[in-house]
Amino acid sequence: AVERTLSIIKPDAVGKNVIGEIITRFEKTGLSVVAAKLVQLSDQVAGGFYAEHKERPFYKDLVAFMTSGPVLVQVLEGENAVALNRELMGATNPSEAAAGTIRADFAQTIDENAVHGSDSTTSAAREIGYFFAESELCERTR
Ligand code: CMP
Repeated sequence: AVERTLSIIKPDAVGKNVIGEIITRFEKTGLSVVAAKLVQLSDQVAGGFYAEHKERPFYKDLVAFMTSGPVLVQVLEGENAVALNRELMGATNPSEAAAGTIRADFAQTIDENAVHGSDSTTSAAREIGYFFAESELCERTR
């Protein structure tokens, strides 16, 4: 089914100037960007986005990292978008990510792992709504 998923290109990857290379991977597999914005997240916005991890030991570092520089927040649309994006990203820990995945190629540590992607269509709906109004999502043109 055609799905939408939320993708975030994190501060480490934005800082490495590889936004284009990462988006190229999405586009080459048939995903299309239907919304995008480059934003500097506040503690409040980053903390709210990751609220489900609030009790985890890495929460504080995660929020500090996600607010350390701009991130590119995007909505990707296409057939099987949620799983396809997760396949492209690779495992959360770059040292366990399959060769050729975004995290294997652009990230070094589990804390600074280049990209975020929704883990289900339910999370995707919540995460997209967290960052975008329905009116900001564009029609796919291909
Ligand atoms: P992300 O998909 O953005 O969701 C939460 C983030 O927390 C995750 O990517 C990792 O970058 C970070 N993180 C740090 N330590 C862990 C851990 N032990 N398990 C899961 N995520 C972690």
